Parts: sequence; structure tokens; C-alpha cells
Amino acid sequence: MQDTQTSPGNLTQFEYLALNSPLNLSDGHARQALTPSQTSIIDALPDLWADAVKRPVEEIEHDSHRAYFELLGQHSYPAADGRVLSCYSSSVAMEIFARSLATTTDAIGLVHPTFDNIPDILRGVGLRLVPVEEEQLHGGDLDPALLRSVGCLFVTTPNNPTGRVLSEERLRRLAAQCADHGVVLTLDTSFRGFDTRAHYDHYAVLEASGCRWVVIEDTGKLWPTLELKIGWLVSAANVGLPLAKVYSDILLGVSPLVLSMVRRFAEEAAGGGLAELHRFIAGNRATLREGLAGVPDVRFPDPDSRASVERLDVGPRTGLEVWSALREHNVFALPCHQFHWARPEEGAHSLRIALSRSAASVATATAALRTVLTR
Ligand SMILES: Cc1ncc(COP(=O)(O)O)c(C=O)c1O
Repeated sequence: MQDTQTSPGNLTQFEYLALNSPLNLSDGHARQALTPSQTSIIDALPDLWADAVKRPVEEIEHDSHRAYFELLGQHSYPAADGRVLSCYSSSVAMEIFARSLATTTDAIGLVHPTFDNIPDILRGVGLRLVPVEEEQLHGGDLDPALLRSVGCLFVTTPNNPTGRVLSEERLRRLAAQCADHGVVLTLDTSFRGFDTRAHYDHYAVLEASGCRWVVIEDTGKLWPTLELKIGWLVSAANVGLPLAKVYSDILLGVSPLVLSMVRRFAEEAAGGGLAELHRFIAGNRATLREGLAGVPDVRFPDPDSRASVERLDVGPRTGLEVWSALREHNVFALPCHQFHWARPEEGAHSLRIALSRSAASVATATAALRTVLTR
């Protein structure tokens, strides 16, 4: 790991610095305590292990897909034909997607801002990135000249860090435009679970459009499972990318134990756990917003966000200055400049706070933030 003491090079390097702190509100992974019914799933891992040893992997995998996709309203996901590839994480799915895409095009349109490991992975395979502003995606039609200049359009929805969700109507229109231009439409839906506005059936819309599409789903942001997670790489039958070949270059498959655990978490979520999680995140968001109310020059630019992260504009201070001052209180957040991968200066005055943390951590961090921002 490179030395990140002085100047972290990317967001994940900022996140490394926070990993050992009890007040790590930096990365977007889920780190709150398990609920009692989630704890009972973990207590039953030996039984899940015994079951996973006995059953064919394909069956375990299909059960896991069904539980997860159905939980989040994705009823038209392609259950057959090996079109859901299970990866260790969404970044691994992303790498497989990027390597596959690079065999067919040299340019991609990418939402701006978004989490910087997405542009980093895409650049890593030699793609030229064309920024597509969130406003453009959510506004009217995209410029045909843009669509002629790229082989793929990549959208994170809900977006990280803004929480912005692509509506069903906008997805339908983007998919139609991509179909017209022969452009692959790729979605990263890692934060889908937090926002019911992202639970309409995306696969029905994508399939109906006839466009070539890819979706990266992620269980890792939703449940505090100590990095035991799955990234699913899902694609259209006509995608025309060597996804299965590149997948086979990298992995044979994921752990049936992790697949079984994900199935159980999805079943628990469907039985009330997801609504409980939504209430928990909303509670932490309220703690943060209310705790900073009235602080001069501080505002929350994403009032509608339901994602497990919250942006904070810190006025004339830079996000980096506030990040440094918070470290003196052992509190770790994330300065936002690198989410703005094309123009970092646009994120220079904001900070991202992770909300998938215990209520007590969010309250303590909020108090530290108030101290730092009012001194
Ligand atoms: C939108 C998005 N996609 C993918 C990832 C990568 O997730 P992982 O580190 O679990 O591979 C992140 C990480 O925060 C993310 O925010």
C-alpha cells in the first residue's frame, strides 16, 4: 500500500486512513451493528456452510440471485443463460466489464461526479472518458454528437455521492437513445437498496428498449457483513462484449457460503429488514442535518438523497481543511474533490459523510463537525 500520510492519491486511499478508527465515517461500506435478526443469520453460518457443501453451486447461485433481485423489484433480471455473473465485489465486476468494453471501443461517456474508482478502472484499460453531467442525464435528450463519439454510456444510479436516482422515464429515454446509436448502456446500481425510487424494474425497461446493456449490482453497501459481499455483472443477450471470457480469465466463481448468506440477508430484508434499514439511515441523516443546523455557510446539497452517504457543502473552507481538522478529533470523513473526476475543483468545498454507521458514531462525529465548523 502506498504512503498516504501526506497526500492521498484517490478516495480509497483516504478511506484506508480511516479503517482503524472507531469514528470512521469515510467509506461507503456498511459498518453499523447487525440487527438481532441479522445476528441470527450469522449465528447460523455453520448450517449454511453444511447446506452449501451438499447442494450444487448453480442452485445456490440461482436462489441467491432470485432473493436479491426480487427484494429490490428487479423481477425481469435474466435468470437463465448465465447472464448474471457473480464476482467477489462490484469493483471486480467493473474491471471485467471495462476489459471487455475496451475490446470494442476506445471511449466512454461517464456520469460526473461519481466514485473515482469507476473512472480509475476505466482509464486503467485505456478508455478515454467523456464527462456527462448529472444534469444532462436527468434533463432532456443527450446530444447525438456525444453518443456518436462513445461506445458506451455509464451511469451510477443512485449516484455516489449525490444519491440522485435515474427515473424510469429517463432510463427508458436513455436506453432508446443508446439503442438508436448502438451505444452500450451500463448502470452501476450499488446503492439501489437504499432508495425505493430505484426499485422499479430496470431490467424490464432495458430489455424493452433493445439496447445493449450491462448492470453492475452490489450487495456490499447494504449489509454489515465484514466485506463478505457479491458484485453481480448482468448483461443483455445481445451485449456483444466478451464478458464471460474475461470473467473466466479472472475467476472461477464466488463462495457458495457467501451466496447463501446473501440469500438469507435478502430474505430477512424482504421480511421487514429493508424498511428497518431505511428508517435507520434516515435517522442518522436527521442526526447529521439537525446537528449542523444553523452553522454558517454549511448546507446539504442533496435534500432528496436516501443513499447511505450524505454530502455537506462547507462554504469558504475546503473539504480537505475540514477533513484535516476532523482528524484531530479522530473523526474520518471524505473530501469530495476526487468524486469530480474531470474537474476536481468543483468538489473542493464539500465533504461526504457515511451514514451506515452506529447512531452513536454519527452523533459523536456530528458534534465534532459542529465544533470544527464553528471555530
Ligand atoms: C458506486 C460504487 N460502485 C462501486 C464501488 C466499489 O465497491 P467495492 O469496493 O465493494 O468493490 C463503490 C465503492 O464505494 C461505489 O461507490
